[in-house]
Amino acid sequence: MILIIGGNGQLGHDFQRLFKEKNIEFIATGSKKLDVTNTESIYSFVEGKKITLIINCAAYNNVDKAEEEKEICYKLNAYAPRDLALIAKEIGADYITYSTDFVFDGTKKEPYTEQDISNPLNNYSKAKKLGESLVLESYEKSFVIRTSWVFGVGNNNFVKQVINWSKTKNIISIVADQISAPTYSYDLAKYSWELIKTKKYGLYHLSNNGIASKYDQAKYVLNSIGWKGTLNIAKSSDFVLSAKRSGYSKLDSSKLEAVIGEKIPSWESGVDRFLNELRKKGEL
Ligand SMILES: NC(=O)c1ccc[n+]([C@@H]2O[C@H](COP(=O)([O-])OP(=O)(O)OC[C@H]3O[C@@H](n4cnc5c(N)ncnc54)[C@H](OP(=O)(O)O)[C@@H]3O)[C@@H](O)[C@H]2O)c1
Repeated sequence: MILIIGGNGQLGHDFQRLFKEKNIEFIATGSKKLDVTNTESIYSFVEGKKITLIINCAAYNNVDKAEEEKEICYKLNAYAPRDLALIAKEIGADYITYSTDFVFDGTKKEPYTEQDISNPLNNYSKAKKLGESLVLESYEKSFVIRTSWVFGVGNNNFVKQVINWSKTKNIISIVADQISAPTYSYDLAKYSWELIKTKKYGLYHLSNNGIASKYDQAKYVLNSIGWKGTLNIAKSSDFVLSAKRSGYSKLDSSKLEAVIGEKIPSWESGVDRFLNELRKKGEL
């Protein structure tokens, strides 16, 4: 049996969709049913359920708020991932958890590989980096996946925000100096699953192929939905944000692609499929 923890978020939602499509049995829990910071309750939950894989989709994702809420951010992004790894070890289950492109400081100007040295710039990414190390030290049957700019139907995200702005604004300004790759949460779930099946544990990068600034991504979304307004280029320095961000954090996913023997689709393909999902749900 597979246990999806944090099953109500974007990735959790799409793991559920994937497993339903593949007729794979799973249990998914949200924060009300299973709080990842309460290790004892997780131990008693997994007891007797014959769990073979724990997927940790729970996280603290508010990058700016993490500058004030350091403690809860570290609990969710560093210590809970480690505790889940230890629980997986205890019950002999495989384990997968997620980290971020923000562990890099952006000084490199070409895609980051797993060999590149990380240098997180804010509390969110420092906690994520600590979580990566604790997990990999704690349990050898762990996968740690770094991903970037996730969007899917399961939660709010940048694509949904751009669509909302398009409904009320004729002029939109978006930064062009933050560069990475948007990642469709369904692809994140699908290619994680392909990796899990190989049992080649370790640290991997997984984002949709291609590269984009936030401006490029917004432009693609607005063109796709036929918005007729004006899109302007902005700079990060035009906005006051609490957390320092790396301007460049594009991940190179070729290690994972080599292991699974498949190419990950482009981010544009991910956006197209996401917009179709929204259309089907009557949300676009
Ligand atoms: N979103 C991004 O752009 C991005 C970028 C890089 C990396 N990542 C990483 O990718 C992974 C998946 O992200 P996502 O976008 O799918 O996240 P998400 O949509 O924000 O979902 C996170 C989930 O965490 C759950 N959660 C929060 N506190 C919890 C607690 N105490 N106990 C149990 N669950 C708790 C929430 O559950 P409830 O809804 O039930 O409260 C929520 O559904 C995360 O590790 C994230 O850090 C995301």
